Amino acid sequence: MAPRKQVQVQSPDVEYGEEAILARVQYETALCQRDGDAVVVTPKRRRLEVRTVRRPHRVGAMLVGWGGNNGTTLTAALLANRAGLRWETREGERRADWLGSLTQSATLKLGMDAEGRDVWVPLNTMVPMVDPDDLEVDGWDISGLNLEDAARRNRVLDVEVQRALAAQLRELKPRPAAFNAAFVAANQQERADNLLAGTTAQQLQRLREDIRDFKQRKALDMVVVVWTANTERFSEVRPGLNDTADNLLAAIDRGDAEVSSSTLYAVASVLEGCTFINGSPQNTFVPGCVELAQRHGTHIVGDDLKTGQTKLKSVLVDFLVGAGIKPTSIVSYNHLGNNDGRNLSAPHTFQSKEISKRNVVDDVVESNSLLYAPGEHPDHVVVIKYVPYVGDSKRAMDEYTSELLFGGRHTLAIHNTCEDSLLAAPLLLDLVVLAEFCSRVSFRAHGSQEDFVPFHSVLGLLSYLVKAPLVPKDTPVVNSLFRQRACIENVLRACVGLAPDSNLLLEHKLS
Ligand code: NAI
Repeated sequence: MAPRKQVQVQSPDVEYGEEAILARVQYETALCQRDGDAVVVTPKRRRLEVRTVRRPHRVGAMLVGWGGNNGTTLTAALLANRAGLRWETREGERRADWLGSLTQSATLKLGMDAEGRDVWVPLNTMVPMVDPDDLEVDGWDISGLNLEDAARRNRVLDVEVQRALAAQLRELKPRPAAFNAAFVAANQQERADNLLAGTTAQQLQRLREDIRDFKQRKALDMVVVVWTANTERFSEVRPGLNDTADNLLAAIDRGDAEVSSSTLYAVASVLEGCTFINGSPQNTFVPGCVELAQRHGTHIVGDDLKTGQTKLKSVLVDFLVGAGIKPTSIVSYNHLGNNDGRNLSAPHTFQSKEISKRNVVDDVVESNSLLYAPGEHPDHVVVIKYVPYVGDSKRAMDEYTSELLFGGRHTLAIHNTCEDSLLAAPLLLDLVVLAEFCSRVSFRAHGSQEDFVPFHSVLGLLSYLVKAPLVPKDTPVVNSLFRQRACIENVLRACVGLAPDSNLLLEHKLS
């Protein structure tokens, strides 16, 4: 794909330097104090400087679970887009694209032209971002199948696509994996033929060497590690095991069986200075792991990719509650027939998924005290069943029942069918692209001589892309999809000295 032209802002508040874009912005918030029923608000204004390094890192993604549905689909999409692949389908010719990707296929409203018409630009033209065509990929899997065979097994990609990419996919073979079988369904053991030997501590060393090896072979200056392997059960969190960074490292050293594979990969990534993204629901980021990331100043992002049902839920419930309608019951049924579904058929892994899917409406419900009394909550049930025949084409059926005026009932029933991995692969790309972008942005107070401060290790900015956003301790979780997207847009705007879009449009509203 030809590179897109970058937006250029002409303003005394922006300097496009050789190395970095330096922007000055006003950050406005409102400090609220409750006094009984009354609320007293004090507007707060701060001038900030935002610094964005212009040159993206030469970045590589290492996928844990590379041979899985998401891993093979993302890899195939990268190869197909790089080659500008075209193939025949029964509906005619199709060309590789990045539909479903926020960074590659979505736009934001920049402003208005002289005639008062909205001007929209691709998100990735606001500031320089990694071009997917330049992204290197590597990874681990407990199954040693090369990616051609893995893609055939996964039954996601069109046969024509598999054929066109076969030679390239065949060359890609996952590295042997660290695997703690006690954390996934017993049925996953059948594919585990590509495992690291040795103690947990030795495996940690091997994972670290793998990261260094990839970095060196591909001459990379940044590696992002993404967990897109099976959903694990939650790890126990207890003092002496994983409550602090030192205790977690000690638990790895003594080979404690309660250290999950995903936490082991996360620790390896942090120790190698890499960003780690958790695409599954389990509590990979136990307190000790979060502390370790903070200690090493690396970024972590979690948890669980937000693809279909949860994305829609975070929009619908936001809309209903925002409209003053009271959702009282939300019931979600899923059935799917891919390996993810097979793994989720065990109660302990299902529970992780259930928790990550269930919490998504909490902040929206809490936002409206007119509808819900303290502690009141809609009934919210999530069911997931494994049905092999439907393969990767997941079915999600949701019923939302709400209360209306005069005790009326409002029921929405939604049926959602699509290949799960085709939704997930663009999200994985976005996570890597945006995580890399975040590594180049820093802030300080205007006029300060202090060093610029990067984003917190726990990268809450990427909440838009994950079901159960991990945020820094004692900070609020935002689940509303619109607010999450607005946050990304507004950060991009701030990087080039633009105020958040107020949507006032007074130009069109005054007489
Ligand atoms: P998958 O089962 O096809 O792929 C997972 C891969 O991980 C398998 O190839 C497996 O062999 C490998 N694996 C398991 N344990 C491993 C370990 N310790 N080290 C290295 N590799 C390991 O599953 P899929 O569909 O690709 O999903 C991956 C994860 O993403 C799942 O946890 C799923 O819940 C999550 N997810 C997927 C979404 C989607 O839309 N596809 C949406 C949200 C989350």
